Amino acid sequence: AHQWRGVIREYADRLPVTESTKVITLGEGGTPLVHAQKLSELTGSEVYLKVEGMNPTGSFKDRGMTMAMTAAVESGAKAVVCASTGNTSASAAAYATAAGLKCAVLVPEGKISMGKLSQAIAHGATLLQVDGNFDNCLDIARKLGESYPVFLVNSVNPARIQGQKTGAFEIVDALGDAPDIHVLPVGNAGNITAYWKGYKEYSAPFESATAGTLPAVSTRTPRMWGFQAAGAAPFVAGHPITEPDTIATAIRIGNPASWDGAIAARDESGGFIEAVTDDEILAAHRWLSSKEGVFVEPGSAAGVAGLLKKHAAGEVPSGKTIVITVTGHGLKDPQWALRTEDGSDVQPVKVSNDVVTVAAELGLEDK
Ligand code: F0G
Repeated sequence: AHQWRGVIREYADRLPVTESTKVITLGEGGTPLVHAQKLSELTGSEVYLKVEGMNPTGSFKDRGMTMAMTAAVESGAKAVVCASTGNTSASAAAYATAAGLKCAVLVPEGKISMGKLSQAIAHGATLLQVDGNFDNCLDIARKLGESYPVFLVNSVNPARIQGQKTGAFEIVDALGDAPDIHVLPVGNAGNITAYWKGYKEYSAPFESATAGTLPAVSTRTPRMWGFQAAGAAPFVAGHPITEPDTIATAIRIGNPASWDGAIAARDESGGFIEAVTDDEILAAHRWLSSKEGVFVEPGSAAGVAGLLKKHAAGEVPSGKTIVITVTGHGLKDPQWALRTEDGSDVQPVKVSNDVVTVAAELGLEDK
């Protein structure tokens, strides 16, 4: 039986590695491409969800982290550092453990979910809560990488983008060609940059460092539709913003590092980057869990929120293939499922330890 070997070994001929590279992996990638029945019915297009919450640490970051940590080991580093809204720190901590490296993570105080915080701590990272936002954390992490003996594993490290481009490869491999439209949330903008790189590389002959010229795999590239949270939407503003705010803490970012990559993905693909409100994000979060059976964290629902918004505006074509990357698992930040639509707390019903009472509560009648 074939065992998935992680993204580096599966796509070695398209990544900057060789036979002798010591690969640091936790078996990331190979995530499900789930047909979204209700979104497909609604739009008249075939809509698929690339469920990145199924990665080892529960987010897409693992695709980039296997490459970054492999590069860290290759460079002889003893310690890695990153800034994070939570998922990068969880992934860095886990992969640093696998690599036998020390790991320090900088997170914005009070603005990362408990699930992500506990992952970084469980994997033994040194976690510092900075009195500032993600952009401030990234500034410090970059300076540490420049002036101190620590290896930076944020997506400003090109190894991260290399690993994350494999998400696009898997989608084309599963569908037989690129989709017409690819939808995803945009925060620090590494992922939209990486997907666009992957789609472009798969649509043309590729000069492999180890395997000669590889033929094109796909006949086309998709339009890239990016969505930001309205309170943290620098690409919509057209410039960095200093006080980003949204309940979707994963994408609470005002000064994206991969600015140029995101603009290139948007413009070269004929796509756009727009904003969705926190209420639209929470409605999409609820849609995914209650209609599709897929539980994601709020930030991950921004792409679906965008598709729903575009559909309501009559701007989603029918008869097309649309893929939405849902970036992180719902268990990372489960509190949002325990709120009703009007914002009150969900109170699970209590019943006595008795079958007749339980049946009555469930509205069941005798057979
Ligand atoms: N979705 C989730 C769940 C994320 O954690 C992130 C980014 C994004 C989307 C946006 O992706 O930054 O490549 O545009 N999280 C980073 C972190 C910033 O630190 O975990 P992006």
